[in-house]
Amino acid sequence: MHANSRAIVTQQTAPHEDLSRRVSRALTHPWQKPLASHTRIAFGAARTWLHEQDKPLILDAGCGVGLSTRRLAARFPDHAVIGIDRSADRLSREHGELPDNALLVRADLVDFWRLALQEGWQPARHYLLYPNPYPKPAHLKMRWHGHPVFPALAGLGGELEARSNWRLYLEELALALAQATGREPYLEPCEPSGEYLTPFEHKYHASGQPLWRLTVTLAHRPALLPT
Ligand SMILES: C[S@@+](CC[C@H](N)C(=O)[O-])C[C@H]1O[C@@H](n2cnc3c(N)ncnc32)[C@H](O)[C@@H]1O
Repeated sequence: MHANSRAIVTQQTAPHEDLSRRVSRALTHPWQKPLASHTRIAFGAARTWLHEQDKPLILDAGCGVGLSTRRLAARFPDHAVIGIDRSADRLSREHGELPDNALLVRADLVDFWRLALQEGWQPARHYLLYPNPYPKPAHLKMRWHGHPVFPALAGLGGELEARSNWRLYLEELALALAQATGREPYLEPCEPSGEYLTPFEHKYHASGQPLWRLTVTLAHRPALLPT
């Protein structure tokens, strides 16, 4: 693949100064946004599918076209992999048949994560692959670690893996996770060497951009999300 994807442009040179305050606020102030009915319906269908699978769960949050969902399902055949994305357009693109242990769901993660927590789901693994970076400092609240839903993401638990072409995004995510859970994530370069998990990974790597990976083992702690 020939690609010339632009590297992240940002005025930030260090973790956002408001990060810790936002994480504290998310951990102490209940977030009242009502759950969208379309995500409730999509979650209900996913719950039925997962029940039938009767396997440990892997979440692929923000799966885009679902290539990673397919690859994770092949890599972990004894797990049930659910890829979630809000973009119907991305989810509808043809990337081959879905393995039996994979499901693609159109839903908003800010609702899906809260429903998963309410339902008592405990993912064995949880992937956040190349989340939208929102690199402007004013957009901290749109990054997952600056968002009010962050305690739900952290409270689900499991082996969390996040990848990004913006190291600072993962540094902030690591700080937020340490603050919320007391666990210290591990941050390292990600060398895909031809084995691309996602189209964005392929595109960034083909453009010569360095890639980064955060990993951490999280406990299942639903009480992190204030009610
Ligand atoms: C930069 S793309 C990465 C897609 C894929 N993981 C990859 O690496 O190729 C980020 C994805 O997150 C999805 N996304 C962003 N916010 C979302 C939300 N609130 N709920 C569900 N999906 C969301 C977008 O639709 C988009 O497909």
